[in-house]
Amino acid sequence: MLAVVVEKQCAEVARMELLNLNLFDKSRYIISKAGRVEIPVLSPPEKLSVNFTLVQQDKSIFKAHGLSFSEMKEYLKDVVGERAELIRGGWEMIGDVLIISLPEELYAEREKIGKAMLDFHPRAKTVILRKRISEPLRKPEAQIIAGRKKTVIIHRENGVIFKLNPLKVMFSAGNFSERKRMAYISSPEERILDMFSGIGQFCLPLAKYSSPEKVIAVEKRPETFQFLKENIKLNKLENVEARLGDNLEVSPVNFADRVLMGYFFSPENYLEIALRSLRNGRGMLHFHAIIKKPELKVYGDRVVELVRKEGYEAKVNYNRIIKSYAPMVWHAVYDIEVRSKR
Ligand SMILES: C[S@@+](CC[C@H](N)C(=O)[O-])C[C@H]1O[C@@H](n2cnc3c(N)ncnc32)[C@H](O)[C@@H]1O
Repeated sequence: MLAVVVEKQCAEVARMELLNLNLFDKSRYIISKAGRVEIPVLSPPEKLSVNFTLVQQDKSIFKAHGLSFSEMKEYLKDVVGERAELIRGGWEMIGDVLIISLPEELYAEREKIGKAMLDFHPRAKTVILRKRISEPLRKPEAQIIAGRKKTVIIHRENGVIFKLNPLKVMFSAGNFSERKRMAYISSPEERILDMFSGIGQFCLPLAKYSSPEKVIAVEKRPETFQFLKENIKLNKLENVEARLGDNLEVSPVNFADRVLMGYFFSPENYLEIALRSLRNGRGMLHFHAIIKKPELKVYGDRVVELVRKEGYEAKVNYNRIIKSYAPMVWHAVYDIEVRSKR
């Protein structure tokens, strides 16, 4: 990737000039090295008012959200004209795989669109078209539309390694902030049950940074479970036990101080097992749900009511919207503190 190199004291002047010339590449960070500064550029400037040299960077640092969805749609107008406006829902970047959804009227042109997206996004090596994610096991229905055919990738996030195949298993880039929150939520004396662990999206950051005594991670789908097991090894985590099976059958009893319920399809069906898994009948549930935004509080009250009916005291300690899921529909999480009355 191309960059302009200038002395540190000239960096701000050069950056402003490149910005005015529309040559500054906003998708990458400026890098400071031994008194000199590398400013990422889209193409070489003819001249600047300060001395500069041009380099091909050995290492570029990309911003996670350097490029906007509307910029991408503008770019795609060269390929599909105004119909680019029909594309909704943004994109996800997992490792170097870019995932998009397209409206059906653009399926016939998917390969052209895929190639344009490879040109547009400097980090993308493969473009995947995701049609839908099937329930109950969150299996993506997806296909490669451009680029490299290899899709088993390593995605690094906050120092955690996630190996996965985005064609086969689900990984939501939009849950980034919740993965970060979970990393520091626990402590060394706690035991954790992750009832819907997937490839370890929540429990691996938690196991790594909170160092709980033990984590039991349950996953029902064998293909996803294989990645979970590999990821435990890749992250060298000795405090995580992976269990293959339905959490309604294989969850431990009287074990956990904290239960992760990262699955939002009829999550109330799993409350009884979550409560049964708590050590001495008390602990914290991280309960995920799909809600309409104005219902954030009311929905939490309803879950608390369900928990009380099972013979527990319960209160919502914290709630928040994690991401938009569909128009007017939101993915939310509730931290519910519970204690058995018996
Ligand atoms: C949506 S993914 C979520 C992964 C992670 N919790 C997150 O939110 O990023 C849900 C995972 O739960 C698994 N799952 C669904 N029902 C399950 C059940 N009854 N027992 C165990 N795993 C289940 C699915 O196979 C899937 O991998």
